[in-house]
Amino acid sequence: MSSVEERGLRFETRAIHAGQEAESAAGATIVPVYQTATYTQDAVGEHRGYEYSRSGNPTRTALETCLASLEGGRFGLAYGSGMAAIAGALQLVSGGEHVVVADDLYGGSHRLFTQVLPRYGIRFSYVDATRPEEMAKAIEPATRMIWIESPTNPLLRLIDVGACGEIAARAGALLVVDNTFATPYLQNPLALGAHVVVHSTTKYIGGHSDVIGGALVLDDEELWKKLRFTRNATGGVPGPWDAWLTLRGLKTLAVRMRQHETNAARVAAFLRSHRAVAHTHYPGFPEHPGHEIAKRQMRGFGGMVTIDVKGGGTAALRLCRSTRIFALAESLGGVESLIGYPWSMSHAAFSEEDRVAKGITQATVRLSVGIEDAEDLCDDLGQALARAAS
Ligand SMILES: Cc1ncc(COP(=O)(O)O)c(C=O)c1O
Repeated sequence: MSSVEERGLRFETRAIHAGQEAESAAGATIVPVYQTATYTQDAVGEHRGYEYSRSGNPTRTALETCLASLEGGRFGLAYGSGMAAIAGALQLVSGGEHVVVADDLYGGSHRLFTQVLPRYGIRFSYVDATRPEEMAKAIEPATRMIWIESPTNPLLRLIDVGACGEIAARAGALLVVDNTFATPYLQNPLALGAHVVVHSTTKYIGGHSDVIGGALVLDDEELWKKLRFTRNATGGVPGPWDAWLTLRGLKTLAVRMRQHETNAARVAAFLRSHRAVAHTHYPGFPEHPGHEIAKRQMRGFGGMVTIDVKGGGTAALRLCRSTRIFALAESLGGVESLIGYPWSMSHAAFSEEDRVAKGITQATVRLSVGIEDAEDLCDDLGQALARAAS
């Protein structure tokens, strides 16, 4: 389907058709896995748009086109992992330049920003981005980029993307938004003032916990050309099978997200009233500090729920090993429910002091609520909380 035909079509239709015309050789309805490293040329320099699969591959192009359509951007770039996409975006920043980062972010991004990129002369300042005035204060003449996630991992805080977009515009900086938790089904940062959207497609976009991947989506052609150039120069592309699996997952993103959301709301309500739970973080609750921002900039509250259990680290660790349906595993966003312990899993890259300052404690447990039966999920958490408290 060409971008002209695609205009006016809704999310669910674009997820299944954007960039996915029938293939020309045999008419295959589904985009094939172009398992090839190279492409035969008719004469030197005469080819059909593809020369070598690091530079371009038709399966990957289909995924990129579909992702761009769903995020409302003109260009998509797929990477071999979410971290490769993040590292790719940071290649827009040069040594001597400065990045303002929302301090509540994925541990892997924090590790890259604190332990790798400073070696190349890039400077980072960390701010509480729930207070945009803090972000504005951190801007310097050398600030090239503002980096945020919303909702944040793992405490599901909400950052006002539009307010950050205005700060970026005033500073002449790029606003990059990691949209992994929200997905394009629930939030489109480009429409809110962001310049680049980041995804770990490993999560909801792939949706089945069977493939690692990442992506950037953007609207600016010059930036896209720069990013495409550096991705080709550095080589962090996904293979065709991974692109194909991700594209297959993407087709059902809307139906999965609706079920994730329904189940998360049910699980959050169950946990909020459970006597072994001290606090339930879920942006769908009216008392959640980011609830109004979520209502304004998202089309739902997502599938993640985080709790602080009573009984501290001992009870939290017992809970993590007592669930029967929720698997104790890194990652999130798959059809199956996962339970994670940010203190020593996803956020272990932060110092203990930083974790505590952010509100991540030894009692914090993160739940990626899957699309199983919601009552089965509540029963599972109920029995595990009872065992954790005993
Ligand atoms: C918000 C967020 N961004 C980026 C990443 C990194 O993605 P990947 O694991 O695909 O490299 C993760 C991984 O958990 C994440 O949660």
